[in-house]
Amino acid sequence: MKERETWTGKAGFILACIGSAIGLGNIWMFPWRLGQFGGAAFLIPYFIFVFGLGTTGLMGEFGFGRAQKRGAMGAFEKAFEEKKLPFGVAIGSIPVITQTGIFIFYSVVVGWILKYFVLAVSGSFYTIDIANTFGNFAGHAESIPWNLLAIVITLGIVILGVKNGIEKINRIMMPSLFIIFIILVIRSLTLPGAIEGVKYLLVPDWSYLLKPMTWIMALGQAFFTVSLGGAGMLVLGSYLKKDEDIPSSAISTALFDTTAAFLAAFIIIPAAFAFGLDINAGPPLLFITMPHIFKVMTGGYVFGIAFFLCILFAGISTEVVLMEVTVEAFMDRFGWSRKKSVILVALIGFAFGVPLDINMEWFGKFADVVSIYLLPLSALLAAITFFWIYGIDRARAEINRGAKRPLGKWWGFFAKYVFVFVAGAVLILGIIYGGIG
Ligand code: TRP
Repeated sequence: MKERETWTGKAGFILACIGSAIGLGNIWMFPWRLGQFGGAAFLIPYFIFVFGLGTTGLMGEFGFGRAQKRGAMGAFEKAFEEKKLPFGVAIGSIPVITQTGIFIFYSVVVGWILKYFVLAVSGSFYTIDIANTFGNFAGHAESIPWNLLAIVITLGIVILGVKNGIEKINRIMMPSLFIIFIILVIRSLTLPGAIEGVKYLLVPDWSYLLKPMTWIMALGQAFFTVSLGGAGMLVLGSYLKKDEDIPSSAISTALFDTTAAFLAAFIIIPAAFAFGLDINAGPPLLFITMPHIFKVMTGGYVFGIAFFLCILFAGISTEVVLMEVTVEAFMDRFGWSRKKSVILVALIGFAFGVPLDINMEWFGKFADVVSIYLLPLSALLAAITFFWIYGIDRARAEINRGAKRPLGKWWGFFAKYVFVFVAGAVLILGIIYGGIG
């Protein structure tokens, strides 16, 4: 058997994790939620959940992948077999199918981003009817080639492998994203009237801490933003060398992810306030509000290109990991080559993507089923399998291997009971409230 690939070092691994974590959740959910749920007050539950629970989930996925040297399907299979439990492969396929589902709808969105990047470059925000352009594009056949382009770009990266593909592009995309984001924040904050947006984001309304919804939304956001789902971070961990520091990698991932979310918030919200535009979440924010801003802002042509380039980096760096999950599963399970597996995943992505391209209702339903039911279920299954079936003491020993500050026994209790309980709560609350991630 060919030896398993590994990262060139800790930096390469962390950059890939950050690439997966920074995505649409940071850009079209976080800024809106921060403003909606009490400003700075929202940060209290958010920080507690990201750094308290998110990092535990990350350490679990990294550790599980590294311990088994396999992606989700193989890792579940081994853990179940050891304990003579049935259905390891079937249960392990749930997180893989889930990530394939995210890959499918993410490719649709990255297609939209590609289109808007091209619109920015061609200076079209000045001439098109911005409000109607998005509605006439998303949900229509015109978006199919863009979806295909998104998949082909992702394929072109993942086919090169872990070190030469995923790690390399993140070494370029992630530092560029942070540098451009900082420039955009400066531009946004120096607009006349931007201060109102800063107030909207930061002036705390403490009464929100008494509302359960604030805590529930912060929890869902925390799980989604660091990519907990029992497969993506797990497969990245499976390419780790034994002596890399898992706890510190988990903290770095959470820290950079949170920083990116803040930068996005301080780009989008102050600019929207400066031009008196509505603050919203989701696609309208990116594809209607933002183009409006660039149309009227001084230097909007250049800043518009820079902004959509960053969003493209955020989207593609997430997509490559989503694709890698299924590619690894095919390679591991069927012994197929990377090339064959990548092409097959691309074909699956496109075949299921086309119906979502042409029908926004289907797109919404599909994205809901995957992110409300399957994703939290997958995160929960991975936590139970690693912390309970594989065993918490061995899990902690794996995570502590190479750690400068090893986790104490308390952490085992925390992971086994508190984390697993909360992961279950994320699933149930999401079902009750129709999605919290
Ligand atoms: N973290 C990504 C975002 O914020 C979403 C994401 C990517 C994800 N991969 C994942 C979420 C795996 C859960 C599981 O947009």
